[in-house]
Amino acid sequence: MAGTGQRVMVVKSGGPSAVPEWREHFRVLLPDTELRCWTEPGNLADIGYALVWEPDEGRLAAMPNLRLILSSAVGVEHILADRMLPRHLPILRTVPGEAADQMAEYVAWAVLHLHRGIPLLQEQQARGHWQFHDPPLASARRVGILGLGSMGARCARMLAGIGFRVSGWSRGRKAIADVACHAGQGELPRFLADLDIVVCLLPATPETRGILGTENLARLPRGACLVSAGRGQQVPERDLLAALDAGQLSRAVLDVFENEPLPAESPLWRDPRIIVTPHVASLPSREARARFIADAIRRFEQGEVLPTLYDPALGY
Ligand SMILES: NC(=O)c1ccc[n+]([C@@H]2O[C@H](COP(=O)([O-])OP(=O)(O)OC[C@H]3O[C@@H](n4cnc5c(N)ncnc54)[C@H](OP(=O)(O)O)[C@@H]3O)[C@@H](O)[C@H]2O)c1
Repeated sequence: MAGTGQRVMVVKSGGPSAVPEWREHFRVLLPDTELRCWTEPGNLADIGYALVWEPDEGRLAAMPNLRLILSSAVGVEHILADRMLPRHLPILRTVPGEAADQMAEYVAWAVLHLHRGIPLLQEQQARGHWQFHDPPLASARRVGILGLGSMGARCARMLAGIGFRVSGWSRGRKAIADVACHAGQGELPRFLADLDIVVCLLPATPETRGILGTENLARLPRGACLVSAGRGQQVPERDLLAALDAGQLSRAVLDVFENEPLPAESPLWRDPRIIVTPHVASLPSREARARFIADAIRRFEQGEVLPTLYDPALGY
């Protein structure tokens, strides 16, 4: 039974071994909170908050007094996959500033790696071959970002700061200094046609599924490079490999995949044109996420509108 006036939060994120760490962060950040493990939730009627990653189907629906669902990550598709999800409840996307900073570091690394032709230099090193190349300055390289939300906008600013010619594409039109902003389906072909490196940072929605398939990859200039760090379902792997084989794409840096973990038999692992990273582009610490969530819960209880709530009308 929960103590009087105490809020109860159940946690499924990082497994039972992560619970002591979550408990310690919330003890400091939100002291009047009782934190329970997903596997030992006690009386379900006590639970007002659920901090989750991939909740088991039907478990959230069994909590009659749940007020707010907290995604332990930026994306929410792992919660929407629950067919018994209580659809009337708000879902918080956990987006601490650290998450966008980490993503921007990852994307800056990937873009610089491709821009400076590091894969070619690594191939030369493997052969003991000493040869110069002349990469253009960043100011001559066109980098475009699909998705200008908290992740994409931070990446766009960092890449523009390095000196790249940066453009971006989103649903609604954005205004970001030194970034050419495009909006809507109608502007997608022109946006793609003017890029050397395309970076995908879109959320997983029915509209973005397969968005970088054969048709849109064909709109890129021949030999363009891809950085994929949104969600794997946006880049069909068969289409990606076909575009690489045809020379339409020259290289790809992939952090997200149609199936995760990437199966051992996937050809992507061993393709020299591809760099595979295991969904590590942005992994904010539990402390940073707990800080963001504690602040959001306080504001929620004061009746404030939370800016990073999932919007069912938009699907992200
Ligand atoms: N690899 C990793 O480690 C990692 C870590 C964190 C997040 N992610 C991924 O990154 C995604 C983006 O995160 P975020 O915090 O930046 O999300 P966000 O703030 O919700 O931004 C999403 C962006 O995508 C745009 N967008 C969505 N649907 C669109 C459509 N159909 N057409 C055009 N633009 C569309 C939105 O346009 P508007 O601005 O007009 O709404 C917005 O600019 C997450 O959903 C997650 O999948 C990956």
